[in-house]
Amino acid sequence: MKKRLVVLTGAGISAESGIRTFRDSDGMWEEYRVEDVATPEGFFRDPELVLNFYNRMRQDLKNHHPNFAHEALAQLENKYDVSIITQNIDDLHERAGSSEVLHLHGELLKARSIDDENLVVSLPFDSLDIALGDKAPDGAQLRPHIVWFGEPVPNIELAIQWVQKADLFLIIGTSLLVYPAAGLVRYVPSGIPIYLIDPKEVKLPVNTSVNVIQKVASEGMREFLKMVDD
Ligand code: OAD
Repeated sequence: MKKRLVVLTGAGISAESGIRTFRDSDGMWEEYRVEDVATPEGFFRDPELVLNFYNRMRQDLKNHHPNFAHEALAQLENKYDVSIITQNIDDLHERAGSSEVLHLHGELLKARSIDDENLVVSLPFDSLDIALGDKAPDGAQLRPHIVWFGEPVPNIELAIQWVQKADLFLIIGTSLLVYPAAGLVRYVPSGIPIYLIDPKEVKLPVNTSVNVIQKVASEGMREFLKMVDD
């Protein structure tokens, strides 16, 4: 039986792939207002602006590729049952070859009906943009399959179940400022080792001991691999 490694990733794991994080000094939220592009109210106020924001991000995604950290997590499946819970909307974990990836905040390469959050469609690579007037199978307008601020996070229940079964828990590249994702660490069973890779100091919402690797994701993963190499 392989041990179960549960990983929580955030924007920082994709930073070395050239995808901007949200809250660093050059982050997305320095340039855009969350209220405008990442809330249902923003979408209903100016749907075209929001569709274009995600259309540009989606088109740009093909210029970015998995980095060593994504690849190392995929490789670790040889040794562990690896479950990745990601806050990221990119598909770099999947492209690196990870087989169990749960997206908490949605996926750029999917769209859904504005009337039915369960009516999700994949966006074909030859026409990746969503335009006003593009309809879901129920006849309602398509919107990005993104969990916006103020919306429920349906995958959190499954994520909690995964975390509760962890034999090792690894956090990579997240400021842990957005809930409920940040609260997942509370469900790590007591006595289970927690590792955290981030170049900055990150405050955990629990008072527990953590193996901090204060490095960027690729270097941090190299160190993590040495630490767990037994
Ligand atoms: P943040 O931008 O809040 O945090 C990024 C984290 O990555 C910070 O702790 C950085 O120090 C770290 N970081 C930067 N470069 C790194 C590197 N090369 N290697 C490793 N870590 C690095 O991003 P998230 O925590 O992912 O949600 O943000 C959470 C959610 O807030 C996102 O999913 C998004 C955002 O608003 C939605 O849009 C719904």
